[in-house]
Amino acid sequence: MNLYDRIPNNVNLSEDKKLQRALEKWLPNYLDWWREMGPDGFQEKDVWLRTAVDVGSEGWAHFDYVKMPDYRWGIFLEPAQPDAIVGFGDNYGRPAYQEVPGEFRNALRRIIVTQGDTEPASVEQQRQLGKTCPSLYDLRNLFQVNVEEGRHLWAMVYLLHGYFGRDGRDEADALLERRSGNPDKPRILEAFNQPCDDWLNFFAFTMFTDRDGKYQLSALAESGFEPLARTCQFMLTEEAHHMFVGDTGLGRVVRRTAQLMKEGNVRELGGIPLDIIQKYINFWFSYSLDLFGGEISSNSADFFAAGLKGRYKEREQYTDHLATNENFTMTVVEDGQLKTREVPLRNALNELLRGEYVKDCEKGLARWNKVLADEGMSERLFLPHPRFHRHVGEFAGHTFDIEGNLISREEFERRKDEWLPTIEDREYVRSLMHPVYEPGKIANWIAPPAAGIKGKSFDFEYVRL
Ligand SMILES: [Fe+2]
Ligand SMILES: [Fe+2]
Repeated sequence: MNLYDRIPNNVNLSEDKKLQRALEKWLPNYLDWWREMGPDGFQEKDVWLRTAVDVGSEGWAHFDYVKMPDYRWGIFLEPAQPDAIVGFGDNYGRPAYQEVPGEFRNALRRIIVTQGDTEPASVEQQRQLGKTCPSLYDLRNLFQVNVEEGRHLWAMVYLLHGYFGRDGRDEADALLERRSGNPDKPRILEAFNQPCDDWLNFFAFTMFTDRDGKYQLSALAESGFEPLARTCQFMLTEEAHHMFVGDTGLGRVVRRTAQLMKEGNVRELGGIPLDIIQKYINFWFSYSLDLFGGEISSNSADFFAAGLKGRYKEREQYTDHLATNENFTMTVVEDGQLKTREVPLRNALNELLRGEYVKDCEKGLARWNKVLADEGMSERLFLPHPRFHRHVGEFAGHTFDIEGNLISREEFERRKDEWLPTIEDREYVRSLMHPVYEPGKIANWIAPPAAGIKGKSFDFEYVRL
């Protein structure tokens, strides 16, 4: 097998012998990880998958039946822009970094490792879901998300191997050693240690947690370190499908629930009651908000100053790329009360990015509420207040109700079952999860999709079992 078939790439791998050797050494370890921690029970099945074979409009979305371990894990970067510059921060306007600047080396490695760690983590979280899929269409979408997260790991490992030498190689190995939810060697970020063991979790995860990924990748796609920017730009094209799976998946659950509400008692009819859907939204939205980091952050200021991590659509949305003169008004907890504080804008960039994310999530909620309205229901779903149920940043260590009012820990404990999934809720949802493997059939708790994938109908045999 020639190199390009083993590791498809557009980074001229055949001319960089050192990098080639490093990646060829990492490849079998990756495949071992995939077989051990990837989708359980489906490795030898033919799945109708989209594969990136090139970054061009033709090549990046090639559809065919593939066995997942044979997926073309590859390295694809968007084409280089001639005369690329550092787009923001203290080095604004200087030529973009083609190598890692020594003074930012640790910061940059940390950014790449943290992003890279989320990719295999989500595959691990989702590895049992194939056994309870609501349809073949959904099974295929799950596997599509999984293989692309695997490829995103490749993208980050390429940067570690290609630009960080020895410690980059060590970090690349460690990415295959940590395990989601394992107390001895957990994944780095908490949302990626939470179980994702039923399909309502999966849809909420791809809606809210993959969407965090979109915003992190967008901020890194602005990076002055050009190889990182180009890598993230290409990953974003794949990430859009993951959010589509979550957004439409939850919308289909909402539709089915609304239909069952009109027929009688949703539980007795085997559906998922709206209040349980709301609690799953509350859970995953709040954990995903934590992924943006502290509200007031010197790291965010350093990353911006260094030109490593920009704002959302930095080039498009802003004219002042220095961000040195502005302040940001932030709500904080002081002496047991909510107060406002002025913070230099550069220290508030996590919060700024989180705000963009929340706006995007609200659009999803509006789509689901439109489904409820279309079905003639007056009930509505909502996002909890961003202060609710936080474990990172200003609001961690304080307790808030779903509307963001500061409450005592006792009151939170007394009321949390109203807001977050209880063990009984989770057990109930799990009790509905029985696999549907027949083409064209669908589980009772979810509506079929409006259309199939890439022009195929819903009853297409997306996975050959
Ligand atoms: Fe990803
Ligand atoms: Fe994703």
